[in-house]
Amino acid sequence: MKSLIVILTLLYACVVKAQEYEFPEDFQFGVATASYQIEGAWDHGGKGENIWDRMTHERSYLIEDGSNGDHACLSYYKTEEDVQLLKDLGVHFYRFSISWSRILPTGHANKINQEGIDYYNDLIDRLIAAEITPFITMFHWDLPQPLQEIGGWPNALLADIFVDYADVLYKVFGDRVKDWITFNEPAQICEQGYATADKAPAYTQEGIGGYLCAHTLLIAHGKAYRLYYQDYHEEQQGRVGITIDTGMYMPADEESPDDEEAAERTIQMYYGWHAHPIFSADGDYPQIMKDRVLAKSLEEGFPKSRLPSFTDAEIAMIRGSSDFLGLNHYTSSYCTTIPDEWVLQRPSNYADIEAWCYASPDWETSGSSWLTVYPEGLRKLLIWIKERYNNPEIIITENGFSDKDGSLNDCRRVNYFNSYLEQVLLAIHVDKVNVTRYTAWSLMDNFEWRRGYTERFGIHHVDFDDDERPRTAKMSAYVLKNIILTKKINWDYTPGGFSECDWDNWGTEEPEEEINEV
Ligand code: NOJ
Repeated sequence: MKSLIVILTLLYACVVKAQEYEFPEDFQFGVATASYQIEGAWDHGGKGENIWDRMTHERSYLIEDGSNGDHACLSYYKTEEDVQLLKDLGVHFYRFSISWSRILPTGHANKINQEGIDYYNDLIDRLIAAEITPFITMFHWDLPQPLQEIGGWPNALLADIFVDYADVLYKVFGDRVKDWITFNEPAQICEQGYATADKAPAYTQEGIGGYLCAHTLLIAHGKAYRLYYQDYHEEQQGRVGITIDTGMYMPADEESPDDEEAAERTIQMYYGWHAHPIFSADGDYPQIMKDRVLAKSLEEGFPKSRLPSFTDAEIAMIRGSSDFLGLNHYTSSYCTTIPDEWVLQRPSNYADIEAWCYASPDWETSGSSWLTVYPEGLRKLLIWIKERYNNPEIIITENGFSDKDGSLNDCRRVNYFNSYLEQVLLAIHVDKVNVTRYTAWSLMDNFEWRRGYTERFGIHHVDFDDDERPRTAKMSAYVLKNIILTKKINWDYTPGGFSECDWDNWGTEEPEEEINEV
């Protein structure tokens, strides 16, 4: 009887109350972009070459439409216009990244490019004048090419080189910038960049490259954080964190202990790989990860683990080195054990984890093969993080939905934001998770890495066939604006100019009449 009452109360909380919940008074909303995805001007303003310039120019076959970020959304030339879009949206903050090669063309701090500094100064000053907080990512994947030529992130020396770069950023922007993210999505940088070749520099050192890269990155992050507290915090009073991405991994069969283990192993060895050293009480890589990679490495004939180890001093330096936990989350999956007949590539991170995770066929799909819609996964993940890492402050630094056609009447994106934000509300009010900010990806359609311009995540449409790259607000921009204004989700809100959603014919309908300014 007691459990029935609990279930009924929870159901009430989820179904009925969720409609009434509001975002807390001090909750903040923002949107995000990244330098290579929007700036263009790849060789203008004194900028040096980065690994995405090099890869897209020399190996354009790796990009679905053969495109590149040479011009992208031309944001380098459109600061005023982009800030106006942000003002119109009413966001509290704008998360954007700095192009390392624009500030330090050689990658090293021997030569500082004043034109690059001027560009970001102008952006920062305009944001502040518009009462929008600049929220800066120091590294969103565009490593200076000269640093790749000395091995890129698997070279442990890059940690100190990154700290030199961070030092320049604190020094020149820290008087006005109070919110810093060192790295965006270590797993994508490392596993995809140096093991599975899905991101630049597209190396295929499976089972090795990703681990070496992440090791350098974690040390770089810890050192950049400590530098801030040693030299800048007293005067600047800002905060430094990191953004780590993950889906929620759930057992395919909730009754099966094997599936439960497969899901837990996956989240520990994908997400915990980067989160555990920083946010857990003990620091270091998760024990299960250390044990499994060591065992597999020995089986494969390696004399020791392919996963590098931290010294005690490094563990202490990295542990606790983040003022908030930045979370990028888009999708979820179910996990089970690998079918017996499958032969896995070894060594590899996949074989180290040894779990098969997949999306439910019942979930709505998107314009990206990896992204299916399961909003409840976000709430489950927030609870998982709260329980594992002692209730940290969580900033959702990315969440969003893609389509292929970039329609202005983007009902499915609207539905995605509404339903994921509903889960955030439940996590805040029912589960008491400390989520303080939400960031929609992305302010505008942009260069979606190896997918080029074939997948669109923007709440503003960008016409890439027009040399001016005009931006037009989609329905989702109006809906987000309404949520920011009212602090709640209004499921019936259909902004002026847009018809009701036509769910059978999604993403193709254009607005019926002229749309007002957002
Ligand atoms: C996460 C990355 O940070 C961002 O650059 C990318 O465009 C989105 N995911 C969508 O794939």
